[in-house]
Amino acid sequence: MDNLAQAYQAYFPVGAAVTLASLRSHRRLLRHFNSLTAENYMKPMYMHPSEDEYNFRYADKIVDYAMQSKKRLRGHTLVWHNQTPGWFFAQGGEKASRALVLSRMEDHISTVMGHFCAAAYAWDVVNEPIEDDDGKGLLRESPWRAAIGDDYIAHAFRFARKADPACVLFLNEYNETAPAKRGRIAELARALRADGVPLDGIGMQGHYNLYGPSADEIAEAIEVYAALGLQVQVTELDISLFAFEDHTVYTQPPQELIELQAKRYRQVFEVLRRYHRYVSGVTLWGLADDTSWLSNFPVKKRKNWPLLFDDAHNPKPALEEVLQAARQPLAR
Ligand code: XIL
Repeated sequence: MDNLAQAYQAYFPVGAAVTLASLRSHRRLLRHFNSLTAENYMKPMYMHPSEDEYNFRYADKIVDYAMQSKKRLRGHTLVWHNQTPGWFFAQGGEKASRALVLSRMEDHISTVMGHFCAAAYAWDVVNEPIEDDDGKGLLRESPWRAAIGDDYIAHAFRFARKADPACVLFLNEYNETAPAKRGRIAELARALRADGVPLDGIGMQGHYNLYGPSADEIAEAIEVYAALGLQVQVTELDISLFAFEDHTVYTQPPQELIELQAKRYRQVFEVLRRYHRYVSGVTLWGLADDTSWLSNFPVKKRKNWPLLFDDAHNPKPALEEVLQAARQPLAR
């Protein structure tokens, strides 16, 4: 069988999110990917559980594997409203001062990026900072924003550039193809660039489903971000069998949905390949359907089948479509 990363070699690296467990249990699928992201272990919750304790043990094992197998590594993630311990924002039972939270942010970014300097070529510096709902302003609520102010994002990128000047710095976001949210992402990115903030790219998380976004919406998002002089990476691609509000439960996935999913994967990869000048990486959020995070989100314990390999780690129709798409002549 063809190899996914090889098939797209001329266009962009193809990555997957992994855990320590999946590096073993899904070992035979790893050859399809030439880039890795730690699904959880590089998040503050795991790496910086208390102020004077950094724990690189788990992440280091993923790094070792990436180095040995000569795969790229994306760092994920430094500044986020989720999976971040509360100590960052507290001091003696009170709220910590702005100055203290800023210095903790700098310490976190410089220590973590310093540690992974040789291994991680890119980092999601700020994850999901944008407001979801229209008419509620640009930025979402976040303990970072509450403690520091709206400029927490600019500070994070400046600290990151200082910590590792060679690293490619991303703002990573979901619903990134929805026109209104896309507009807010672009507005923030434009303002940051105008202020000389070192932002290099937009991470399009790519949590899509059978019904959207359309190929045109994905193309438009890439064009909008690229027009700002930014590179684009799809950082967490998966294609859910369910619309977001649909809570249907299946024990086995209906074959017609699996076929539809294959078509959708093909469309997505066709667009990404067409825009390969701007797209510098595409990462799937997991290796196979047996361990996808979507079997716990947005509905707890509701099974989903969003990836390219099935529960038994066999290739799905989607993989074949994606491989075939890579063989088509590319319009100039
Ligand atoms: C998810 C992981 O996949 C889960 O294992 C964890 O329980 C929660 O986080 N956007 C992101 C990722 O940026 O870090 C999230 O990963 C999925 C949504």
